[in-house]
Amino acid sequence: MLDDLESVLYTSEQLQSRIGEVGAQISRDYAQTHPLVIGVLKGAFVFLSDLVRHIDIPIEIDFIATSSYGSSTQSSGAVRMLKDLDQPAEGRDILLVEDIVDTGTTLNYLRDTLIRRGARSVKIASAFDKPSRRRIPIVPDYCCFTVPNAFLVGYGLDYAERYRHLSCVGILRPEIYTDEH
Ligand code: IMP
Repeated sequence: MLDDLESVLYTSEQLQSRIGEVGAQISRDYAQTHPLVIGVLKGAFVFLSDLVRHIDIPIEIDFIATSSYGSSTQSSGAVRMLKDLDQPAEGRDILLVEDIVDTGTTLNYLRDTLIRRGARSVKIASAFDKPSRRRIPIVPDYCCFTVPNAFLVGYGLDYAERYRHLSCVGILRPEIYTDEH
């Protein structure tokens, strides 16, 4: 599978080391609260499972799922809720955990939805940030790595549901996909 990568951007060791720092920061920032940590499925499941093991304060964990790119490498611009939270957002301090912020469409929609439901605060933790593609001005409160404008796979990120289980993150060889990116 690694043969399908043009290059590896971050190795597993580099990811783990940085996630440790971000987890420690989150533990400090939320020391006085009891946040609800929400993973945005499917892509965030790897990052969330590593991140929460570096958070040493009481937290609750829930998941939400939105429509994704499917087999394409382009965002449709529309977001659809596929799986909602199991518990109310009202009054909670929420940390949304995402794999990558690209155009900002998904997180903008989720943040607005949670604020409308009465969340006390909503912050964003993203493994990767691709600011060059932003269409909506979303700035993650916690970000492990800023990445270039390329289509990435691994560490939760997929192309056509493949590559999510790679422990590193890398740039997919353009010849693997046909869409323009
Ligand atoms: P946004 O709504 O455009 O910010 O896109 C967010 C979602 O698009 C992410 O949660 C990913 O699922 C997907 N995505 C964006 N960039 C990439 C990428 O480089 N590789 C794989 N998926 C991506």
